[in-house]
Amino acid sequence: MLHAPFFDPTKSYYENWEKGPFNEFTDGTVFPVEKEQRFTFLGQKLNYPFGIPAGPLLNSHFMKAAMEKGFDVPVYKTVRTRIKKCNDWPNVLPVIVDGDLTLEKAKKGLTVKDDYTEPLAITNSFGNPSYPVDVWQKDIAETVAFARTRPGQIVVGMVEGTRWEKESTEQDFIYDWVLAAQLMKETGAHAIEANFSCPNEGDRVSRLLCFDAEISQKIAERIKNKIGDLPLAIKISYFEDETELRSLVEKVAPIVDGISAINTIPAPVYDKEGKQALPGGPWRLKSGICGAPVKWAGLDMVRRLKKLREEFGMTYEIVGVGGVTIPADFKEYRDAGADVVMSATGAMWNPYLAKEIKEAYPNG
Ligand SMILES: Cc1cc2nc3c(=O)[nH]c(=O)nc-3n(C[C@H](O)[C@H](O)[C@H](O)COP(=O)(O)O)c2cc1C
Repeated sequence: MLHAPFFDPTKSYYENWEKGPFNEFTDGTVFPVEKEQRFTFLGQKLNYPFGIPAGPLLNSHFMKAAMEKGFDVPVYKTVRTRIKKCNDWPNVLPVIVDGDLTLEKAKKGLTVKDDYTEPLAITNSFGNPSYPVDVWQKDIAETVAFARTRPGQIVVGMVEGTRWEKESTEQDFIYDWVLAAQLMKETGAHAIEANFSCPNEGDRVSRLLCFDAEISQKIAERIKNKIGDLPLAIKISYFEDETELRSLVEKVAPIVDGISAINTIPAPVYDKEGKQALPGGPWRLKSGICGAPVKWAGLDMVRRLKKLREEFGMTYEIVGVGGVTIPADFKEYRDAGADVVMSATGAMWNPYLAKEIKEAYPNG
């Protein structure tokens, strides 16, 4: 059953930031943390291997509410080293998907629907906006302070480097990643996640960074040198090509502590008249699809990452993301080899998802 969402798609990103979270997410029910932490994640004690990935948790109000509702690994929405404006509203729309969103279906494009109904499938398009550094640093530090009252919950800060100027060099770009990670470290976040799955930031325009193993390696290395012992995870997208995935894992996995997959699956999104659904330039025709129909892709990546980890004798932890909307989805991810599982869309429409999963699978 869908509840009213804690991020309200009818409101702008800014209104959500200022007034959210909404609905039952802040109904005052607080679930206690466990007396003993039975799990670990990125070298830290953890209550239970379930959380919310970067996205719906816009600031400390959302992060705290998530922790109180038992999401033990909340990730703060991606931040940058300078202010960046959000794409024009709307940023979230429901889409029609029949069954799994295969890559073929995604290529053909999707049409929006009127309401958020099950199977829950949405597109999201924010452009990874960022408040100024001093705002997010203070806000994340507050979340970390709150986490001290809730042992076994791990605050993850997600960063992204930016080519701020057209003439930015690769060195500038790498430097911006390192700066972002350093600024995040200063907040006291328990771990850093680097968003290697955001479009238009890679060496080749419109290629995702994670598809460029060489620059991904350089960035991961430089960040790790800067942040030292603080755990570092990278977030990657769905890889069609196994050779590309192997190459990334071979080059980057020895440097990082964790790999999260997946981000969204991009697809052109149309309104009922067949016109571009999201307002703005043609670049906004394509946007990321998430929710139930992308579960197959997250599961597939978890299985492949597990296989590669065994083959290479590596130790990175695997975070399974994509399409978790009911407890059985969590179990499928765990069985596939996810060390930690996360839900963005499913959690947005069900504040009790962590509670339900913990009740269904007390041993994780
Ligand atoms: C509202 C919303 C905002 C998102 N923003 C980000 C983001 O800032 N950074 C990021 O790496 N992924 C972002 N994502 C993608 C999610 O982290 C996740 O990878 C994707 O939604 C698939 O999971 P799901 O099917 O559980 O939603 C966002 C997702 C949603 C629903």
